[in-house]
Amino acid sequence: MSAFQMPVCMPASTVRAIAEVRSLNTAVDVQPAAFVLTFGCQQNEADSEHLRGMAAEMGYRIANYAEEAELILVNTCAIREHAEKKALSIIGQYKHLKAARPSLIIGICGCMVAQQHRVEELKNRYPYVDFTLDAASIHRLPEMVLERRRGGRRACTYVELPRDHVPDVVEGMPLRRETRWRAWLSIMYGCNNFCSYCIVPYVRGRERSRAPADIEAEARALIADGCRDITLLGQNVNSWGRMADGSFPEGDFASLIGRLAELDGDFRLRFMTSHPKDASDALIETMASHEKIARHFHLPLQSGSDTVLARMNRRYTAERYLGIVDRLRAVMPDITLTTDIIVGFPGESEADFEATLEILRRVRFDMIYSFIYSPRKGTPAAEYTDQIPEEVKHERFDRLIALQNEISYERNKLEEGKVLRVLCDGEKTQEGKTFCSGRTDGGKLIYFAGAARPGDVAQVKVERAEPFVLRGVQM
Ligand code: 5AD
Ligand code: SF4
Repeated sequence: MSAFQMPVCMPASTVRAIAEVRSLNTAVDVQPAAFVLTFGCQQNEADSEHLRGMAAEMGYRIANYAEEAELILVNTCAIREHAEKKALSIIGQYKHLKAARPSLIIGICGCMVAQQHRVEELKNRYPYVDFTLDAASIHRLPEMVLERRRGGRRACTYVELPRDHVPDVVEGMPLRRETRWRAWLSIMYGCNNFCSYCIVPYVRGRERSRAPADIEAEARALIADGCRDITLLGQNVNSWGRMADGSFPEGDFASLIGRLAELDGDFRLRFMTSHPKDASDALIETMASHEKIARHFHLPLQSGSDTVLARMNRRYTAERYLGIVDRLRAVMPDITLTTDIIVGFPGESEADFEATLEILRRVRFDMIYSFIYSPRKGTPAAEYTDQIPEEVKHERFDRLIALQNEISYERNKLEEGKVLRVLCDGEKTQEGKTFCSGRTDGGKLIYFAGAARPGDVAQVKVERAEPFVLRGVQM
């Protein structure tokens, strides 16, 4: 099956539903509001931009608070138990909103509701929830809302799809972005990797890529609209464009990002996330030869132990990972490197954990995202019998953070004295003083004295490093 055979337009039924809800919303004196709450990763942020876009097309004003809303959408995450618990707790608080205003519609979207046990829980224990909508089906939002506006039945339903089912890539969904100068641009959806701890392949379905022409058109439109920073999104961007037979008839990710980096305009391209098993030399070369590709590589390591990596089904070794880091630094010595680490994976011995610390010391990441292993129902690792006790997980987690904090500070210190290109995002007030706040090309947070406004690109001299932020002055 080809990775590109699926792009479809929004179904006619969706377009009709948008128009019908819109006419209901314009018939009332006060325009109703919609509130969208997002948990989880950048992909969810990007999906929420579509939820807001569809809500706006349906004639809702976008609200900042749930209390104002006639339509509440919670876009959930399932990656760790903590994320699910937080979402369920907030959904619990909406009970009294519905009691006060029975016309309120509450929809639960995203990864959590692609799981049968969660859909049943919402259906049975949260009777005021109107519908669930999994991450691969968000384009159906208008139909769900219309059904409830017409007094139709609740729709908390789980449909089991075959494991090899490839959901549609739906183009042309309305979109409402938060800022003009920074944007997420999804280039693919889903994941085929089945890392043994991860729920994503089950809840987001099989990998599918957007067509290059659609991606390029969106990038061009963003740049024409003044966007300065575009993050290409996918669970594993390095496998963008791959067909079931392993071929890349439309080019691979390196060729895609290289082409986008040749578009006119003052912008930077980033990408998230890469899988080390697919990070290619061609991508490294493309990055090095294009100034518009930001000097930042986020490359999840997960563990420094080959035994743990094998049980995680990651399909690379620590040595292979270090080889990629060496090649990146050989051609881009200043590159910012970040990673994801899981501590307390089943069977992780003290020696395995030490191997992870050793890689941190060796690579000297600028920053890490660290996670305590959370068993996910339905994944192989949740069934492993050698689960690590909670107190051991927490103790290792604290040691990991302590080591990385020192390294992050030392890495930040290397920036002192440099003049960096910074995209201003807003302001930061500390101890009565207001600074501009922004991100360097490497993605580091910087507060600086100057007159830059959000969306401006400034040249900033770094005067002082702190563990988690740089401080500087605009040139
Ligand atoms: N427990 C803890 N962390 C996890 N991640 C994914 N699944 C789990 C889990 N079950 C982490 C990985 C991944 C990041 C997005 O979340 O490090 O790269
Ligand atoms: Fe999860 Fe692995 Fe896919 Fe990333 S590559 S989304 S960690 S299964």
